[in-house]
Amino acid sequence: MTDLGAAPPGDPLPILKQWLERAAELTDRPNPHSLVLSTTGAEGCPDARVVLLKRFDERTGYLVFYTNYESAKGRQLEALAEACAVFHWDRLGLQARIRGPVLASPAEESDAYFATRSWQSRLAAWSSAQSQPVSSRAELNARMNETAARFGGDPGDWSRAAPPRVVARPSFWGGYRLFARAVELWMQGQARLHDRILWSRNLEAAGESSFRGGPWTAKRLQP
Ligand SMILES: Cc1cc2nc3c(=O)[nH]c(=O)nc-3n(C[C@H](O)[C@H](O)[C@H](O)COP(=O)(O)O)c2cc1C
Repeated sequence: MTDLGAAPPGDPLPILKQWLERAAELTDRPNPHSLVLSTTGAEGCPDARVVLLKRFDERTGYLVFYTNYESAKGRQLEALAEACAVFHWDRLGLQARIRGPVLASPAEESDAYFATRSWQSRLAAWSSAQSQPVSSRAELNARMNETAARFGGDPGDWSRAAPPRVVARPSFWGGYRLFARAVELWMQGQARLHDRILWSRNLEAAGESSFRGGPWTAKRLQP
């Protein structure tokens, strides 16, 4: 397949879902659902980093990723709750860009996800003030040891199975939902005549953690 169809499909979300499924089958890519998340930093300067997509809600049209709410990205999103996500699957010749507003996931959803994380990952979430300076690796290790001891584990040996004591989610760590207001799908074509379609729609607030999307309009863009 070298194009997205003569007439742009009405809804990009099923195509994005299909692309994510195809990417998940890539055997030579350890994190097929990694994405570059761009936000706006101080004085309007762009910033970007890689995060992992943990869920795609095809019905409403949002991406979920998890992070520290007090990290640089967390603070940037607090100041301007808009982001852009870019996926690139080189082997498939595909790129997807998703832009729109960002809301924190409902607390219960973040709790449920946090509970599925390994003991070490939960300790690390507590131990790392993400994006803050640290004097040394030794200080970070010491912090992991303290956290392990606090939750009934064995300091110095985080590889042990989790002790029975529950490690609750820290309130400064959780999910974000990036709602698709615009989706651009790019498919590699012959002679650099790639195919690009940009879909956009209006979003209307629907409660604390969601939006309702209006109808999509699509236009094909020159490569
Ligand atoms: C493959 C990969 C996956 C990553 N996944 C996440 C993630 O899901 N959440 C996260 O907070 N950081 C993740 N990181 C680390 C971020 O890229 C980044 O270093 C960190 O979130 C701090 O970013 P900030 O200072 O801009 O907030 C990942 C890095 C890589 C290379």
